[in-house]
Amino acid sequence: MRQYKVGIIGATGMVGQRFLLLLENHPWFNVVAVAASPRSKGKRLEDAIGAKWAFETPIPEKYKDMIVFDATADKEEIASMVDFVFCAVDMKKDEIKALEEAYAKLECPVCSNNSANRLVEDVPMIVPELNPEHLEVIEAQKKRLGTKRGFIAVKSNCSIQSYVPALHPLRKFGITDVLACTYQAISGAGKTFETWPEMVDNLIPFIGGEEEKSEVEPMKVWGSVEDGKIVKAVTPLITTQCLRVPVSDGHTAAVFVKFENKPERDEILKIWEEFAGEPQTLNLPSAPKQFIHYFEEDNRPQAQLDRNLEGGMAVSVGRLREDVMFDYKFVCLSHNTLRGAAGGGVLMAELLAAKGYFD
Ligand SMILES: NC(=O)c1ccc[n+]([C@@H]2O[C@H](COP(=O)([O-])OP(=O)(O)OC[C@H]3O[C@@H](n4cnc5c(N)ncnc54)[C@H](OP(=O)(O)O)[C@@H]3O)[C@@H](O)[C@H]2O)c1
Repeated sequence: MRQYKVGIIGATGMVGQRFLLLLENHPWFNVVAVAASPRSKGKRLEDAIGAKWAFETPIPEKYKDMIVFDATADKEEIASMVDFVFCAVDMKKDEIKALEEAYAKLECPVCSNNSANRLVEDVPMIVPELNPEHLEVIEAQKKRLGTKRGFIAVKSNCSIQSYVPALHPLRKFGITDVLACTYQAISGAGKTFETWPEMVDNLIPFIGGEEEKSEVEPMKVWGSVEDGKIVKAVTPLITTQCLRVPVSDGHTAAVFVKFENKPERDEILKIWEEFAGEPQTLNLPSAPKQFIHYFEEDNRPQAQLDRNLEGGMAVSVGRLREDVMFDYKFVCLSHNTLRGAAGGGVLMAELLAAKGYFD
């Protein structure tokens, strides 16, 4: 596989730091440019991150002395240095949209972790095991942007990464209704217990915009490609409640589901066990060998025990049982800054690379 030069836009943030760790020894991707806000411009990356470094593993030596670019002012220089960029920034939606389009128009593909472009019809929102066929719309997007190789591809919100993979292979039974309550870790807000001490011994029953994303984004992931656009699915009906809980990493979802044709419990377990997608077939470097792990123990999955399964790229499921109002209920867990953010972004980029989108 050829080597690709990569930029990280938002390298000083929580997700950006995850990218740094995941790409330290990546077999295909080499980080050659890091960028953040004008506040960080010109600083050594280690100094720009300072006390915001959020992981026990220290910042890798190879990145410490890299000089941070200004993501907006230096975009031409960055685009000329790299084959593509990862983007995870804390800016206003319209500013992110403009920034990502500007990179794409500089013929620099963007693998985005931001929500700004997620619902644009010709921007694929990819969970690599679920909807790799949506990459098709990139051709139409390039026409709209007037580019030859520049485009934007996004990954979905971290909350849906826990329950949509488990529902996806069950769609053949005609899922009609889904209720999902998510219990979301504080790293999802870019925070640790040090930076958000109010979350110790606490629960906050509101995460801005999260319920809307959790209900709408699955419909795009399950949508179909028509005339260069992704047309959203119209079923199932999904309702969610998203709560912030005092967990450092790992989003849990309690899921209830109703089918047109109710499958047997054993059938569901067999489908989860056998479920694999293109990342597994293509043997992509970050792909989990087993995408969905089912636990028979009543007290699993647990955030502390199971979030790092397969490098934090697998989805853990447990407690599948019949329900009196719906057909079944179960619990899912995924690591929100690995599978749900940077890891999911890296896997999407590996899929794009394997399919020649960066050549
Ligand atoms: N945390 C998660 O689990 C998660 C999951 C999925 C998606 N996301 C999304 O990923 C994005 C980043 O999240 P995060 O948790 O990493 O946030 P964060 O820790 O607050 O980091 C924000 C990053 O954005 C940069 N930034 C802020 N203003 C900027 C500007 N005007 N121009 C360029 N860069 C600017 C910051 O640079 P400075 O250091 O210079 O300020 C920093 O690198 C958000 O869109 C978030 O919704 C997060």
